Amino acid sequence: MSAVAEQTQVAPRLLADRINALEESSTLAMTKMARELAAQGHKVISLSVGEPDFKTPAHICEAAKKAIDDGFHGYSPVAGYPDLRKAIADKLKRDNNIDWKPENIVVSTGAKHSLANVIQVLINPGDEVVIFAPYWVSYSEMVKLAEGKSVVINGAFDNDFKVTAAQLEAAITPRTRIVMYASPNNPTGAVYSENELREIAAVIEKHEDVYVLADEIYEYINFTEEGHFSIGSIPALKDRVITVNGVAKGYAMTGWRIGFTAAAKWIADGVEKLQGQVTSGTNSIAQKAATAAFNGPMEPSIEMTKAYARRRDLVVGLLREIPGFKVNMPQGAFYAFPDVSYYFGKSDGTTQINDSDDFSNWLLNNSYVSTVAGSGFGAPDCIRISTAAADESLVEAVQRIKDAVATLK
Ligand SMILES: Cc1ncc(COP(=O)(O)O)c(C=O)c1O
Repeated sequence: MSAVAEQTQVAPRLLADRINALEESSTLAMTKMARELAAQGHKVISLSVGEPDFKTPAHICEAAKKAIDDGFHGYSPVAGYPDLRKAIADKLKRDNNIDWKPENIVVSTGAKHSLANVIQVLINPGDEVVIFAPYWVSYSEMVKLAEGKSVVINGAFDNDFKVTAAQLEAAITPRTRIVMYASPNNPTGAVYSENELREIAAVIEKHEDVYVLADEIYEYINFTEEGHFSIGSIPALKDRVITVNGVAKGYAMTGWRIGFTAAAKWIADGVEKLQGQVTSGTNSIAQKAATAAFNGPMEPSIEMTKAYARRRDLVVGLLREIPGFKVNMPQGAFYAFPDVSYYFGKSDGTTQINDSDDFSNWLLNNSYVSTVAGSGFGAPDCIRISTAAADESLVEAVQRIKDAVATLK
C-alpha cells in the first residue's frame, strides 16, 4: 500500500470522534464541486453560495485602509475594540430597540463564530436546543459539537415555512436550554412578524431556564412593510435573548468576518472567556471597518436590498412557471427555496432522482447550475437557489433548470 493510501486509511480512525460525527457543510461542498466543474471548462452558474454579489461600500473600505495607516496592527481586546462595541450598542438601540451596554457585547469572527460560541457556553451534554426548520445548515452541527441534542420543529410550507407558538410549546421539555431561529431566514426567506414573535415569546416566558438565540444576520435584507422585529426588544425576555448579528450580509462584508453577540453580562462574559482561550480578539482592521459600517450611512445597504427584492420577484416568477415546482414568496434574505418533490422517483433515462440531494447533484452535472439540496437545511423536499447574482445569470440558470426537468419522466 502506498504511503498516501495508508494515511487516508489511518486518518478517519485517528480523527477525534467529534469531527468524524460532523457533517460537511452542504453549501460549501456544493460550491466546491461547482468550482471543480468550472475549472474543467464548464460554464457553471453558481447559485449555491450564500453571499452578496456586491462590493463592500467604499466608506467602509476607506476606514480599513485608514486603520492600517493608523497602525492598528496589534492584538485587540478579546471582546473587541471599545469603539466597535459602542457602535454596536448604538446600533441595537437605534435599529432594534434593544438596550445593552458595550460590556454586553462580544465581537467575534463572523456571526457563525458568535453562534458557535454561545452554544458552547450554554449547552451541557444532553441539553436540548429547539431549532426552527428549515434552518441554516450549521445550527445542528454546532449543537452536536457541544454534545447537545437538536430538537427540530418544522415550519409548514403553507405557513410560509414558519413555526408556530403551539409547535414550540409542544417541543419544550425540562432539558430545553435554547430556542434558535433566524429571521429573515436562510434558506426560506421567511420573516417572523412582531405578532408571531410575541406569541413565541409568551411561550418562552413560561419556561425560566429557556433562552432564545436570535440570528438576525439578514436583518437589513427585509422586504416586508412592517420591517424587522427583534425578540430581544421584549422587556420580559430581555435577559434571556441572545441576539447575534454581524456585517456579512447587510453590508456585503462576508470576507471581513465580523459578527457579534449581545446578551446578559454573564453570557457575554462566558463568550469572552471561551474566545480568550481559543481565538483572541478578531481581526483589528476588520473591526475598524465594521465600526464605520455600523456608524455610517445606510444608503448602500438599502440599495442592495432593493436589488435583492427585484431579483426575488424575477426568480420566483420564473420558477413558478416550471411544472411541478412549488415556490413560496421569500420576505427577506436572498434565496428562493422551491419544493421540487414532484420530480422524486422520476428519471432522465440514466439517472433516477430520489431526493433533493440527487436533484441538486443531477442539476449541477447536467445543466451546470449549482444549488444546494434542502436536506442539509432540514427540508428534504426543497432546493436552495441563491438570488445574489446578476439578472442575466439568474434568468439563464432558471431556463437551464426548466429545460433539464423537462427531460425527467
Ligand atoms: C442564517 C445565517 N446565520 C449566520 C451566518 C454566518 O454569518 P457570518 O458570515 O457573519 O459568519 C449565515 C451565513 O451564511 C447565515 O446564513
